[in-house]
Amino acid sequence: MKTYKIGDELITKCLSINNYGNGVSKIDGLLVFIPNFYPDEEALITITEVHKNYAFGEIKELKVKSPYRVNSVCDHSSDAGTCPFSDITLEYENKLKGEMVKNNVERALNITLSPLEVLYAEPIQGYRNKVTVFFNKNYEFGYFKEGTHEVCPIKSCVTISDEILQVLKTISILLKEYKVEIYDYKNNGIVKGVSIRRSSYNSKMSIMFLSTKCTKELRSIADDLKELYSDITGISVSINNNDKTIVYSDKEVALYGNTYIDEHILNMDYRVENQSFLQVNTNGASLLYSEAIKMAELTKEDTVLDLYSGAGGISLNVSPYVKEVIGIETVKSAVDSANINKYLNKVSNAEFYNTDSANLKSIIKDKTIDVVFTDPPRSGMESSVIADIISIKPRKIVYVSCDSYTMARDLKLLTMGGYSLKEIKCVNMFIKSRHVECISSLVLRNISK
Ligand SMILES: C[S@@+](CC[C@H](N)C(=O)[O-])C[C@H]1O[C@@H](n2cnc3c(N)ncnc32)[C@H](O)[C@@H]1O
Repeated sequence: MKTYKIGDELITKCLSINNYGNGVSKIDGLLVFIPNFYPDEEALITITEVHKNYAFGEIKELKVKSPYRVNSVCDHSSDAGTCPFSDITLEYENKLKGEMVKNNVERALNITLSPLEVLYAEPIQGYRNKVTVFFNKNYEFGYFKEGTHEVCPIKSCVTISDEILQVLKTISILLKEYKVEIYDYKNNGIVKGVSIRRSSYNSKMSIMFLSTKCTKELRSIADDLKELYSDITGISVSINNNDKTIVYSDKEVALYGNTYIDEHILNMDYRVENQSFLQVNTNGASLLYSEAIKMAELTKEDTVLDLYSGAGGISLNVSPYVKEVIGIETVKSAVDSANINKYLNKVSNAEFYNTDSANLKSIIKDKTIDVVFTDPPRSGMESSVIADIISIKPRKIVYVSCDSYTMARDLKLLTMGGYSLKEIKCVNMFIKSRHVECISSLVLRNISK
C-alpha cells in the first residue's frame, strides 16, 4: 500500500457515509474519512491526519457536486462537527441515515434488509428543547471541537431556536459585564458553560450554569435574566469542581424559581428536572414513543418492563394500554420526576425503581414480563442485562436506540438468545446532526415458556 502524509493532495470520490457522518473514500486501499463529502461526489482533498489503516482529509476543491447540496446555515458546524448534514436536503439526509442504520444491522446480524423507513416530526429547524454550550475567554459560546476544550463559537444554528439563541447572547454579554472568570480546564477560572431547556409546550425556560462554584456575580446575572425574560421560570448552578463538562452533578444550587421544565410528550404531561435525561426534540419524541408503542403490539393483560426509563416518558405513555409497567433508571432525580409525572397524569399502574438495569431480576422477582422496552444510553446494554432479558423470555422486546452501531451489536446477542428481528424503523430526531434514533422490535422464536 502506498503511504501518504499530512498535506498530500489527491483527487478522490466519496463511496459512502460512515457512522460519524463523514464521507468515506478509498485511495490505494487506504480508507480516508472526509467531512461534508457525500456519495458520488468527487473532490481534490488534503490529507489532515494519518493513522495505520485509515486517514482523515478535508475538501480543498469540489469537482463533482451532489445534487442534494444546499447552503449551510450553521457557521460553526464544520469546526465542531455537530451538524455534518447541515449542507444537504432533509430527504437526502434521511436516506443516508436509513442506509447507515441498515448497514450496521446487516453487518452485525449477517442479514439483508429492505430500505428502512425514516420518519421525522415538524419543526425541522430550531427543534432543540435543550442546548448546552461552553464559553471561551472572550465570552463567546459554542460547542467544543471534538475531543478538545476549544470552543467553536456559534452565531447561528439551524437546530437552536431564536429564543434560546437570544438568551445565550444575553448571558454572554452579562458574563463579560460582570467580569466572570471563564474556566480554562487547567484549574483556573469559574464558569464553564450553561445549559438551557425551553419547553415546546409552554415556552418556559430553565437555565442552569455549569460552574466550579456559585458566586455573587452569578446571582446578579440571575437577577438580571429574570428581569429581562419573563419566560425564564428557573435559574440554577450545577457545581462541578473538576474538568468534567457534563451537566450532571450532585450539587445543583437554585438561584431563582424551579429546577425543571414542563413538557407534553405524546399523551402525557411531563415534568423534567434539569439533571434528568430529556429527549432533545419533543415532537420527535412523541413520534418515537407512538411508533415504539405500535411496534410493541400491547394488550391489556401485559406486564411491561421499561429499562433505562428516565423521567418515565415511555412507561407513562405505555401505561394506558397495559396491566402494569415497571420502570428502572439509575439517576435519582429522573426517578423523582417519573413519580411526579405519574401523579400529574393520574397513572396508577406504573412503578419506578431507582437502580441499575443490571438489577432487573431482583426488581421483577417472580413476575412474568410480557414485553420489554429498552432505551439505553449511546453505549448500549451491558451483556449481563441482555442475558437477563433473554432468561425472563418476554414475548416481545422493543429496543429504542440513539446509536445504531451499539444497537446492532446488542441485537446480535438477542437474536442468538432466541429472538427474531421483526421490524426496524428510524426517527430522525436530530436533524442535521449525525445521530438518528432507531426502534427495533424482536419476537421470541419459541413462544412456549
Ligand atoms: C436514552 S435515555 C432514555 C430515557 C427514557 N427512556 C426517555 O425516553 O426519556 C437513557 C437513560 O438511561 C439511564 N441509565 C444509564 N445507565 C443506566 C443503567 N445502567 N441502568 C439504568 N438506567 C441507566 C440514563 O440516566 C438515562 O435516563
